This record gives sequence, structure tokens and C-alpha cells, in this order.
Amino acid sequence: MSYGILLWGNAADIDIIFVLQKKAARAIYKMGPRESLRDKFKDVKIMTVYSQYIFENLITIMAPAILVTGGAGYVGSHTVMALLERPENDHEIVVIDNLVNAFRAVGEKKPEPLKRIEEMTGRNIHFYDVDIRDQDGLNRIFENHSIQCVIHFAALKAVGESVQKPLEYYQANIAGTCTLFEKWMVISLRYFNPVGAHRSGRIGEDPSGLPNNLMPFISQVAVGRLKELMVFGNDYPTVDGTGVRDYIHVQDLAEGHVKAIRLFQQPGFSGFHAVNLGTGTGYSVLQMVKAFEKASGRNIPYKIVGRRAGDIAANYADVSLSHRLLGWRATRTLDDMCQDTWRWQSANPEGFQKS
Ligand SMILES: NC(=O)c1ccc[n+]([C@@H]2O[C@H](COP(=O)([O-])OP(=O)(O)OC[C@H]3O[C@@H](n4cnc5c(N)ncnc54)[C@H](O)[C@@H]3O)[C@@H](O)[C@H]2O)c1
Repeated sequence: MSYGILLWGNAADIDIIFVLQKKAARAIYKMGPRESLRDKFKDVKIMTVYSQYIFENLITIMAPAILVTGGAGYVGSHTVMALLERPENDHEIVVIDNLVNAFRAVGEKKPEPLKRIEEMTGRNIHFYDVDIRDQDGLNRIFENHSIQCVIHFAALKAVGESVQKPLEYYQANIAGTCTLFEKWMVISLRYFNPVGAHRSGRIGEDPSGLPNNLMPFISQVAVGRLKELMVFGNDYPTVDGTGVRDYIHVQDLAEGHVKAIRLFQQPGFSGFHAVNLGTGTGYSVLQMVKAFEKASGRNIPYKIVGRRAGDIAANYADVSLSHRLLGWRATRTLDDMCQDTWRWQSANPEGFQKS
């Protein structure tokens, strides 16, 4: 499918169709009655605008775009990076994020992770400070960009808070998702414990307040921001009594999303699919602590405390469907996860805010 844009002007009454292929726009027809131009280019998706419209915006409007909701957050920003790092990706990237859990410096238009990604890739990211429940805001974005695919990360994710404020979480996570996906084919990617950071060390996980997850907790202890790690229970039926989880490098995870997008382009693909993105291997809390001590060269003091309500002994993924359906598998090791987390945390001890 090509993308065309039909322009007309008040004064000269000239009609022109531009067809955009990749990033180059070329005029392929001009001076004709508008309806006959449309007839001639039936295979071209055409948008009609006034010729007074700023010309530079045409490519933005018509170039195919990927919308990443929550793209300023941890997994979202690494996925934006994975998309922009691929030389064959010619999609514009549009991010919406209401910044409830992402940092933007005072006076800046874009959140810090996106600014850093732009610096590293030399690519522009279109950013909108919009809540996914704001239907008018979403409509405007869909009018401004030719969105072909949505990768949806915008959500509230603090387990403790979700129990205290269930209605707020249903509202944000379930109603918001329904508004977004009413008319779309969906691949639901389920993942377990994303850890690590981009190998540059410039973007990574930056939880606000006390970390809810193990890895940022360990890395903040290593960097001296927190005194010691609390280990919830050492009497589970596991290798050393501590809980076992499927940790996956966030870059592997991000690449899984890029692979999933390709699936939409396959003929005959339709419906709703749920796919696990994991390594299929579990590591215990104490195995994680040891691996991180090795990567960082720092001692991680910890204290064993009682079990946490709702925790189970072991949880890891069956990843066979992701291999079959997406042709994807995680390639990075536990050492990679720890080394990359440490590179990010040691270069940004206070996260995005003070680095
Ligand atoms: N990080 C994990 O350990 C983990 C594990 C499994 C699943 N997930 C899921 O992955 C998704 C992304 O997680 P993350 O770790 O990147 O979280 P994150 O908090 O770092 O990123 C979420 C982003 O969405 C934004 N956001 C939240 N509500 C919004 C709204 N209503 N409108 C617009 N923007 C909004 C936040 O500001 C934030 O930047 C979430 O759905 C989460 O539940 C995360």
C-alpha cells in the first residue's frame, strides 16, 4: 500500500497527489479534477488537505506510524529504542504518556528517557502528554498520524497499591485498554520479571519511591541508596528456599514486541493471541543477589523476613508458543541482565532525575 496526499489551493485550484514511498514524497500527478485523481489511484490510501497546510508536516502525517502508549516508562522506552535501532524500521514513532510514572524535567517538552533515545538514535519521537482514557485526545493523535499499530504499555503496576485502590486500577488498566483496542487485532504479550537496561546505560528502570521489584531494589542497595534488601521467606520448596521467578532482559523483551508487530503483516492473521515472553528458566532471589554481587563487585546486605501475602514458590514461563508463533527467543544471560542493570544504576544513581 502506498500513501498519498491530495492537495488543493484556493487560488490556483490545482490538485496534486503526492505518493509517499518510504520517506521520499514525489508528485505523480497534477492538475486534474479531484474525483478523477482519486479514481486513478485506487490502491493509494489518500488523505485530502488544503495546500496551505505546512508542507513539512506532510511526511509526518502520512508516514506509517507506531503508537507506543506508556512509552516513557521502563519497558515502553526500551521498546521505542528497539524500534528506532532497527535500520529497516521506517515507521514514525508516536508516544503517549501521562507521566504518572515517568520523569520530565521542568520546562522540557519531552520526558527524559525519550530525549536520551533521540540523542542516541538521531531520530525524532512525537510525544503527547495524554491519558489513554482521554478519548478526544486519542482521536486527535489518530487524526494527526497514520497509526498502523499500537503497542500498549500505559498502566499502573504497583501490586500493593492495586490492592488498596482497586477501582482506580480497573479504571486505568482495563477501561483504558478497552477504549484503545475496540477495533483492533490484538496480540497480548505476557511477561514476568523484566530486568536489565539498554547496553548504553543511558536508559533503565527508574521506579518512583521504594522499588516494588527485586532487581531495582538490589541495584539501589548496591549503589548505597537503600541499606539492605528484604528477602520475603526462605522456606519455599525451591533450590535455596527463596522464591523463583522468570527474569528476562528488557532488551530481549523489547525485541519480542518488534517481532510481534511483524505477525500482523502476515496474511490470514486475525483475532486475539496471548503469548508468553520469558526465558523459561527460573532463578531464586539469592541466586539473583549472588549474580548481582559478581557483576557489580559490591556486597549486597540482605535480611530474611516473613513470606509476603500472595507470593508463590516458583513462577516461570512456558515459552514454546513464542518460539513457534513469533520466531523469537530470549538470548541474554543472567550475567548480561546484572551487568547492564549495574551500568545503568552506577551511571545514574538517582535515576533520570538527578543524573
Ligand atoms: N516491569 C515489570 O516488572 C512488569 C512485569 C510484567 C508486566 N508489566 C506490565 O508492563 C507494562 C509496562 O510496565 P513498566 O514496567 O514499563 O511500567 P512503567 O510504570 O515504567 O511504565 C508505564 C508508563 O505508562 C504511563 N501511564 C500510566 N497510566 C497511564 C495512562 N492512564 N495514560 C497514559 N500513560 C499512562 C506511566 O507514566 C509510565 O510512563 C505495564 O502494563 C505493566 O503492568 C511490567
